[in-house]
Amino acid sequence: MKDFGGQRVIENLNLEAKQGEFLTLLGPSGCGKTTTLRMIAGFEEPTGGKILLNGKDVSQNQPYERDVNTVFQSYALFPHMNIFENIAFGLKLKKLPKEEIKKRVKEALRLVRLEGYEERKPNEISGGQKQRVAIARAIINNPKVLLLDEPLGALDMKLRKEMQIELKHLQQKLGITFIYVTHDQEEALVLSDRIAVMNNGKVEQLGNPSEIYERPKTKFVADFIGETNLFEGAVSHVSENCIKVIIDDLSEITITDPLLDKLSLKKNANVYVAVRPEKMKLVSSAEEGMNKIKVTVKEKIYAGSVNKTIAALSKGNEITINELTGNTTTINDINKSMFAQWDYEDGVVILQ
Ligand SMILES: Nc1ncnc2c1ncn2[C@@H]1O[C@H](COP(=O)(O)OP(=O)(O)O)[C@@H](O)[C@H]1O
Ligand SMILES: [Mg+2]
Repeated sequence: MKDFGGQRVIENLNLEAKQGEFLTLLGPSGCGKTTTLRMIAGFEEPTGGKILLNGKDVSQNQPYERDVNTVFQSYALFPHMNIFENIAFGLKLKKLPKEEIKKRVKEALRLVRLEGYEERKPNEISGGQKQRVAIARAIINNPKVLLLDEPLGALDMKLRKEMQIELKHLQQKLGITFIYVTHDQEEALVLSDRIAVMNNGKVEQLGNPSEIYERPKTKFVADFIGETNLFEGAVSHVSENCIKVIIDDLSEITITDPLLDKLSLKKNANVYVAVRPEKMKLVSSAEEGMNKIKVTVKEKIYAGSVNKTIAALSKGNEITINELTGNTTTINDINKSMFAQWDYEDGVVILQ
């Protein structure tokens, strides 16, 4: 829990990272990710609650007394020191023998693939290389936990994607627990063993990437992670095998989800049904045994690997349908009346 000037920014938050895990805090700007990380690092004191490391309460310990290191988005390198000196800084403070320092810096540089860059100054290397130096400096003490606050935020898209893969490999090699902060949902899905989706100082859902993507538990998570079509409706039927929901254009949607907790769903309960755009198909006549909703095609957008269709339901609310480019016809169906079709098992029910 954390208050700033009487305002609560982190609620009662209970989060445990497993040893060697890549855990990501994901959420929109201002939801409290950095504050959470700073409390773990010791730069911020919790208003209530404790920080445990290996079962030991470190809440009262100074940052340098915790077996934790932080990598910031701004690389925070010393501009007047060369790369070797930047990485060796912490070890020098600890008064380690010169030979030992040399050996460990060399190993750290090898891990981040920057051998031979010892003599350069920070202004003589690229952004991606600076971030690698910051990571090398952070892992050189072999911390139990590495905290990373949007470390790739300043890099361009291509470099960012390359560094994501590298970070993941590095984490696997080192076996250090990573607690990673990002507002980029794709980055979180690619990197993490588990993701804590945060909203307004609370964890909305904690799960592995496929759970978060395939089975969002709240409307916020469904909306925030990837694209989704959300239908608002009321439960019309609950049985052993399926539930049915009537949405506001009076179409009835069937959901056969073996993991659905049907006990908590009663007839007439207000729910959302979330369907990913890539699960939907646009067809002129719907097949039997599938969900179908009558739509009017509004817009077609070519987006490289997928064709996006924006289509409107009879009440005007719009949905998105993504079909692989090769699988769609190129005929012009703007303003045509068609069906959005998807499998019974491709809907997720979310309680309102
Ligand atoms: N030192 C501070 N003083 C007052 N308010 C703060 C301070 N640090 C953060 N906040 C507020 O706490 C909330 C969460 O901020 P932060 O943890 O930085 O979010 P995020 O990293 O998810 O973008 C925001 O509303 C922010 O304005
Ligand atoms: Mg932040």
